[in-house]
Amino acid sequence: MSNPSDFFSNKRSGFGMMPDMEEEQFLLWQNLLEERTGMCLAPQRKSFLQTSLGIRMRELGCDDYEDYYKKVTTGSGGGIEWSILSDRLTVQETRFFRDPDAMAFVKNHLLAMVKTAPQDRSFDILSMGCSSGEEVYSLAMLADECLSHLGFKYSVTGTDLSTVVLRKARQGKYPIRKLETLPASYRQRYCIAVENNEYQIISGLRDRTCFSQVNALNLDAFPVSGLSIIYCQNLLIYFRRWRRREILNALADRLVEGGILVTGLGEMVDWQHPNLVQVDSNKLSIYVRRDNNNQMGGR
Ligand SMILES: C[S@@+](CC[C@H](N)C(=O)[O-])C[C@H]1O[C@@H](n2cnc3c(N)ncnc32)[C@H](O)[C@@H]1O
Repeated sequence: MSNPSDFFSNKRSGFGMMPDMEEEQFLLWQNLLEERTGMCLAPQRKSFLQTSLGIRMRELGCDDYEDYYKKVTTGSGGGIEWSILSDRLTVQETRFFRDPDAMAFVKNHLLAMVKTAPQDRSFDILSMGCSSGEEVYSLAMLADECLSHLGFKYSVTGTDLSTVVLRKARQGKYPIRKLETLPASYRQRYCIAVENNEYQIISGLRDRTCFSQVNALNLDAFPVSGLSIIYCQNLLIYFRRWRRREILNALADRLVEGGILVTGLGEMVDWQHPNLVQVDSNKLSIYVRRDNNNQMGGR
């Protein structure tokens, strides 16, 4: 799991000296980020904020935090500038099969679900905060392996706030070093070598995926339901606890009976939902949706 202290990652180098940010200014940026992304920026991350803003401001020839704040928050250009800035500020680290234990659980669960599924069932999977797509394609590989030969349909949808990572995800092209965590059998079956020493996910698998910009703070605008698997790892860790609870409650309502919600270990330790049962494991943070006739008390 990513460390919350890495939230502001000093991704770009070449930063010159910027004026020190006043406390009042810091609070403004802190509030803007939390309001728009849900992410909390601890006071000790002020220097990261300053560095990241400074790099972007230098690109624009701007040296005043207040002027830049106005640029980001006003007019139609503000939206475009915000999407550039937010992409640079958020942690987007990801990799294929990042959490092998959770992926193994997903595979076994899919295999168990198909045993009793009607032949016309489609298994729809969601990856929230999918970054550049590795998680989506890992899930698609598992689904393809478990379901395709039996004639079952499946889809994997990846969502993220950042349009920049979503563009990369749609392409499904990765340098060879990104394939290191991908088991060799999947690499051989689902990746092909393309130009520039890169590998691309085969079109047959990409065709089963789709990517969409969705803010986890606004799930009402994303009316998807009947999901068999919801994967939500390394996103909630940056949010306040009440927000994590709200998001998980909203996601729980989108699962089919027997569907699973996969979160990162330690991301939400004391959350319960009347329709979900937590898998008993110290390596996993996974919840299974019980059947609707078997509910318990409130949330
Ligand atoms: C650390 S990555 C996790 C990627 C992947 N889930 C994994 O575990 O490898 C977190 C992702 O969440 C996205 N994100 C941050 N705030 C978000 C929000 N409010 N709504 C949707 N996505 C968000 C970021 O853009 C980033 O791509």
